[in-house]
Amino acid sequence: MRDIKLPRLVYNWLSTAGVFIAVIAALLMLILLAIAAYREDTNPYFGMFLYMVLPPILLFGLLLIPIGMFRTWRKWKREGQESVPKWPYIDLNKRSHRNATFIFFFGTIIFLALSAVGSYEAYHYSESVTFCGKTCHSVMKPEYVAYQNSPHARVACTACHVGPGAGWYAKSKLSGAYQVYATAANKYPRPIPTPIKNLRPAQETCEQCHWPGKFFGAQQRQFNHYMYDSANTSWPINMLIKTGGGDPKTGQTAGIHWHMNIGVRVEYIVRDERRQEVPWVRITDLQTGRVTTYQDSQNPLSEEEIAQAEKRIMDCMDCHNRPSHVYNSPDHMIDLAILTGKIDRGLPDAKRVAVEAMATIYDTEEEGLQKIANYITDYYRKSYPELYQQKRVRVDEAVIATQEAFAQNIFPEMKVRWEGYPNNIGHFAYPGCMRCHAGNHTSEDGLTITRDCNACHTILSQGSGERAQVATTQEGLEFVHPDEVTGEAWKEMGCFDCHTGVAP
Ligand code: HEC
Ligand code: HEC
Ligand code: HEC
Ligand code: HEC
Ligand code: HEC
Ligand code: HEC
Repeated sequence: MRDIKLPRLVYNWLSTAGVFIAVIAALLMLILLAIAAYREDTNPYFGMFLYMVLPPILLFGLLLIPIGMFRTWRKWKREGQESVPKWPYIDLNKRSHRNATFIFFFGTIIFLALSAVGSYEAYHYSESVTFCGKTCHSVMKPEYVAYQNSPHARVACTACHVGPGAGWYAKSKLSGAYQVYATAANKYPRPIPTPIKNLRPAQETCEQCHWPGKFFGAQQRQFNHYMYDSANTSWPINMLIKTGGGDPKTGQTAGIHWHMNIGVRVEYIVRDERRQEVPWVRITDLQTGRVTTYQDSQNPLSEEEIAQAEKRIMDCMDCHNRPSHVYNSPDHMIDLAILTGKIDRGLPDAKRVAVEAMATIYDTEEEGLQKIANYITDYYRKSYPELYQQKRVRVDEAVIATQEAFAQNIFPEMKVRWEGYPNNIGHFAYPGCMRCHAGNHTSEDGLTITRDCNACHTILSQGSGERAQVATTQEGLEFVHPDEVTGEAWKEMGCFDCHTGVAP
């Protein structure tokens, strides 16, 4: 610094330290930015360091310079040095002032350029799936893994959790800052609670991509089940799901997507945190203004409770609450593994044994993987020693498939299992639609929210072997329960009362 003459005020330890810090931070940032430009898949902490740690350090260093100068100036004034003017001034005729102005001027340009590139990159980084899903690795692992196996695996976390606009960006970064702290301090709840209380309304997230006015028609879906008998009997159910639409302008206001708040508004009150008990529902027809209120006739709310309760407006997320993080049940995952041939259907009791192995509560993922292997192998070694010798490869395959299903859906370290995260889309393993459609929600003028099996879908075919049935009329088939012992219990009870993700 001796060569470049600068104002005397700068020569103090605080400003000098500031210069050092700023220069080192700026150099580091330049090097890392250059690396980031060449490498696509850097470590998540790399971005965090570059965009979130270094810039504040740089700023801190820069701030120290004027602070140091100010302190020196005050000290001189106190000591009564004569040459201290009342206000700072710039005199370009003095060499030291000229140099300082030059440095300040070019420094500012470089700083602004760096901030422009940096903050653009930092914005993208803080919105990236890497940051959301990987930085807090152990915490977000369940969401991240399930997300990668979902239809939305190419949709950024923030498209659903933050959405467009500066306001929500700022809001999410503020709560994000707390989450980073909570993670570092190990203060977060396990499992992470759901639903998210102040999730942004679907109109501003999901509907940026999905266009509710354009839904219509029906969807055919086949549900492939295997029974818990020793033959793993296949029981497919093929249905036409009446998705429908909700836009009066296209004439399609019937069907499931009717609830979507285009022609009507549906509001409801819940009894529990998880929104699984719905004692009160109100619909408002936005065309005619007609209002109908339904109450759970077996367990209604009092006038006072209704007045006080928070009323939630139904949107996409009330049915599609797990579009991206589905923690599937063992029952479903093992059905899928048998369907795709990963587990040989010829292995006796395969469905039951694999489901049992997967559903057991383990303390860590490692323990789970090990014990799943032991459980399945021991079972065949003891119960079917001969078959085990012949079909050893098949047993090993079943082990691998079950381990895979386990690792993708159950996260012991975070205490995440399917039971804790109900999926509201149907009514097989969780109440879902039956939170309102169980047949006990009635209005004062005698209307009931429908439980008619044909209101939401038509069964096109069901069952297998001698018991297989195929529909021959538009009305479809009446449901036949595969298990004859429990016979017609489904007419009174919900499927989810017995089917809870494991053997009923
Ligand atoms: C397609 C939209 C979508 C995407 C993409 C998405 N989420 Fe979610 N996420 C949701 C919805 C909907 C919920 C549940 C909301 C509710 O029920 O309140 C949720 C819930 C969560 C929860 C609360 C715990 C839980 O499992 O319910 C966390 C944490 C979370 N998401 C993290 C992430 C992360 C991290 C990513 C990216 C790797 C991500 N999300 C991507 C829609 C999405
Ligand atoms: C950034 C765009 C985007 C956003 C935001 C988005 N989705 Fe999607 N969604 C898609 C795309 C693309 C597909 C089709 C994926 C495919 O079929 O591979 C899809 C598929 C779906 C499906 C069908 C899934 C299936 O199993 O076939 C549902 C249901 C769905 N989205 C619901 C939602 C909900 C609810 C939200 C808000 C929480 C949401 N989406 C937010 C783009 C988006
Ligand atoms: C009273 C309890 C009960 C109710 C209610 C019930 N089930 Fe079952 N279900 C069983 C039992 C027990 C079995 C036999 C388990 C086996 O061997 O697969 C079974 C088997 C099944 C299977 C064969 C595959 C499997 O996962 O076990 C299907 C599919 C099925 N039920 C569908 C339904 C549907 C759909 C409903 C609701 C409309 C329903 N069940 C209601 C008890 C019940
Ligand atoms: C009343 C519950 C409910 C609401 C509310 C709802 N959906 Fe659906 N949606 C369903 C059901 C049921 C299906 C049939 C698919 C299935 O069974 O998995 C479906 C199917 C879909 C599909 C795939 C099939 C298709 O028609 O393309 C998409 C995408 C979708 N919904 C998006 C949305 C969006 C976006 C919203 C909010 C604007 C929404 N849904 C609101 C229940 C609902
Ligand atoms: C929060 C309560 C609630 C939930 C949850 C709910 N619904 Fe509804 N649903 C209603 C109400 C209220 C009506 C209107 C009843 C009426 O006609 O007045 C309705 C009507 C319907 C209709 C039209 C029935 C008819 O009369 O033709 C269909 C179809 C439907 N719902 C499907 C579903 C499906 C599928 C799900 C689950 C994915 C679901 N609903 C979840 C409250 C709910
Ligand atoms: C309020 C609408 C609604 C009503 C009423 C309804 N269901 Fe369903 N049901 C659905 C939806 C939506 C699905 C699809 C869930 C999914 O996509 O996973 C479904 C799925 C099913 C399945 C396949 C489940 C699976 O995972 O294998 C069966 C079987 C079924 N329903 C039978 C019935 C029977 C029997 C009744 C009458 C007691 C009935 N449903 C009443 C909406 C309804």
